[in-house]
Amino acid sequence: MSQTTKEMPAGIRNLFTSITHYKKGERILIITDDNKLEIGQMVYQYAKQVAKDVAMAVMEPRKGHGSEPPEAIAEAMLSCDICLGATTMSLYHSQARNIACKEKGMRWVGLQDFVPEMFEKGGMTADFDEIHREIDRVAHLYQGKQFRLTASGGTDMTCSVEGRKVVVDYGTAITPGAACGTPNAEIALGPVEGTAEGILVIDGSIPHPLLNVIEEPITCKVERGCIREITGGRQAEILKQVLEEYHDSTVYNVAELGLGMNPLNEIIGHMAPDEGSYGNIHVGIGKNTGFGGHVMSPLHLDMVVRKITAEIDGKYFMKDGVLMV
Ligand SMILES: [Fe+2]
Repeated sequence: MSQTTKEMPAGIRNLFTSITHYKKGERILIITDDNKLEIGQMVYQYAKQVAKDVAMAVMEPRKGHGSEPPEAIAEAMLSCDICLGATTMSLYHSQARNIACKEKGMRWVGLQDFVPEMFEKGGMTADFDEIHREIDRVAHLYQGKQFRLTASGGTDMTCSVEGRKVVVDYGTAITPGAACGTPNAEIALGPVEGTAEGILVIDGSIPHPLLNVIEEPITCKVERGCIREITGGRQAEILKQVLEEYHDSTVYNVAELGLGMNPLNEIIGHMAPDEGSYGNIHVGIGKNTGFGGHVMSPLHLDMVVRKITAEIDGKYFMKDGVLMV
């Protein structure tokens, strides 16, 4: 039997239901590269069961996140309704993606750094309509003046979030021009520059090819809004080196408090599920312009802390990894 008659994995079905709300007649483009051909082909085979107008484009893997695709692919992006990026590196920050979304209303779903199992279980199998409702229920409460983050791993950091607006990512691309990196789903706040103080103990993951799942917790001393000292084992040394190589003090800026909102995500060493894992927070460092701040930095790196407690103005928003609102 050909693959087209196999039952569609829940995570692929979701691409056409709760993630994009695919409508009959919409044109689907799948972008993949030499390293992720298996993922691209999987999506392509099943997309043909759902839609008539389906095409797949293959390129060489890009150098880094945000690198531009070849011109022919950038052109193709302008003539589709839904684009699925089954690539090694994310195209989210590429101009091609941005232009297609802004000018043609393309809906973008980034599936970078995927492995086939991610379509069978975990975050991709969640009901994103339900996640959407849950985010809408709590997001407006994720703001205030004083934020305190603690966790059983030893994290204890405070910062001001006064005047900062919550940034939501539903993990879906339903309205024209929307873009997401599913199965991540989150609500995020940007600390006010210079105000973060305390200790961060990174015990979840860091989406960097040399790091991923953290085996030996990394302790970061935070003063006046920036990481001033990094201690721990082998992975702490790697993080230190990765940051030092930028020769740019802005990479140490505490930039984001991103709370995972997809209950089925687990920390598995892949960016989207790790960052969107429920009960955990990713503390982003570096650039914070997407979170109401003014720090331009060559880096935005997320570091996941497990099972957190978040208090805003003395009230529990999350306690031991469970929402209290
Ligand atoms: Fe985030």
